[in-house]
Amino acid sequence: MLPTLHLQKDNALPLYWQIYWQLREAILAGQLPAGTRLPASRNLAKTVKVARVTVTQAYEQLQAEGYVVSHVGAGTFVADDVGLAKRESNAAPFHPVLSTWGERALAAQGKTGQSTRLQIDFGFGRSFPHIFPYNIWRRLLARYLSVDDVMLSRYGSTAGFMPLRQALADYLGRLRGVPCKPEQVVIVNGAQQALDILARLLLSQEDEVLVETPGYAAAFDLFRTHGAKLVSLPVDEEGFPVERIPANSRARLVFVTPSNQFPSGGTMPLARRLALLQWARQRDALIIEDDYDGELRYDGRPLTALQGLDEDGRVVYLGTFSKVLFPALRLSYVVLPPALITPFTQAKALVDRGAPTLTQAAVSDFITERHFERHLRHLRHSYGQRRQVLVEAVKRYLPDLVCRSNTAAGLHVMLYLPPHMDEAEVVRRATAVGVGIYPGAPYHLEWPSPPSILLGFSGLTEVEIEEGIQRLATTLAK
Ligand SMILES: Cc1ncc(COP(=O)(O)O)c(C=O)c1O
Repeated sequence: MLPTLHLQKDNALPLYWQIYWQLREAILAGQLPAGTRLPASRNLAKTVKVARVTVTQAYEQLQAEGYVVSHVGAGTFVADDVGLAKRESNAAPFHPVLSTWGERALAAQGKTGQSTRLQIDFGFGRSFPHIFPYNIWRRLLARYLSVDDVMLSRYGSTAGFMPLRQALADYLGRLRGVPCKPEQVVIVNGAQQALDILARLLLSQEDEVLVETPGYAAAFDLFRTHGAKLVSLPVDEEGFPVERIPANSRARLVFVTPSNQFPSGGTMPLARRLALLQWARQRDALIIEDDYDGELRYDGRPLTALQGLDEDGRVVYLGTFSKVLFPALRLSYVVLPPALITPFTQAKALVDRGAPTLTQAAVSDFITERHFERHLRHLRHSYGQRRQVLVEAVKRYLPDLVCRSNTAAGLHVMLYLPPHMDEAEVVRRATAVGVGIYPGAPYHLEWPSPPSILLGFSGLTEVEIEEGIQRLATTLAK
């Protein structure tokens, strides 16, 4: 028996599609067994009050997909082999067996979702929406959204949009102390993708990677997922303690944040940078320099990069627009030593063929038309003030909490709690009064880790920062 069809004329789906879909469901559910003769299109059209051609179209769609067969003169019948595809509504959901990589990815603690909404959220790695020049951005995007511009109708270059690579090479050479040719600059979908590609290219199972603790947990997860073993050195106010690299270290890869150690702050001085390069030379190792927020220094000029001291192609420089434009852009870049350009670009082609051209083109104009440098000046001013408000509020209301680095930089502050304090309890109490602060444990590789919290200031106003710290102090005093 043909099920009753329920057609909605004001539905966005065309009527023929509604008929096709409901018949298909009935066939798959076994309500219309193999060999059932469907009503003649003329009759069904009359029953459901649609034009005959609408039913014919639905039957044609069913026939094209193999649900029915038509015999001239005899009619339309449910096909024989449809039973094979029949859905069992009570079948247990399928759980694919994950690969080793898949199992490791599942076990990683990396963030995949959004955090809860809090009244005052010291979340970090955010940009302050009102600072970004949306009007300019809209104009630049619109420039390329024109039918006269054929650029978007083709695949872009895997290594990135050449004008952006040129603009970055110029910017990085002038302002970040990263001398490079445009060919060395490859555009990626976030620094995370650059790390993933580098890990695929450079790490084999059980390889050691030297990292900082506390450090960038997203990189830790990634290296581990690729089967690497992390060897961590606890950082001090001057970042990665090169002199403490174990003499018997097998590592051929080092991941560091020399300009502003993530997440505890602090800058690697020249002597340590040179020592790290020398160590890498002796051990035939490669250094990944993650310069995720090097532009954001609030006292004096930003420091230049480690890459600028490298003479034999041992440093891969990573930069991102996540902090200085906005994180949802998902555009970052890597400056590769010549020997890695081809392997990296080849891998990028396999992974996703290249970053989106539209946003690359807009960012390119944003840089070459000098909006970027103006925006950076604006950011430094606004974020510098917010940081100062936060640091002063902490000194005033939470004098027991220690900020290890005095470097005025970045978008967050890491505070160490007195040893008797329980980090998770502090976070829980803050949440209870509507204040979002973040535990430091996920960034530490030592166990037990010293209790600490992270407070981002880039998504809040100065008033909110002050109020948030006061609320935190009040709840901790109870
Ligand atoms: C230490 C560190 N490196 C790199 C990044 C940038 O990552 P992405 O470009 O994937 O947004 C971040 C962002 O939070 C970071 O904290």
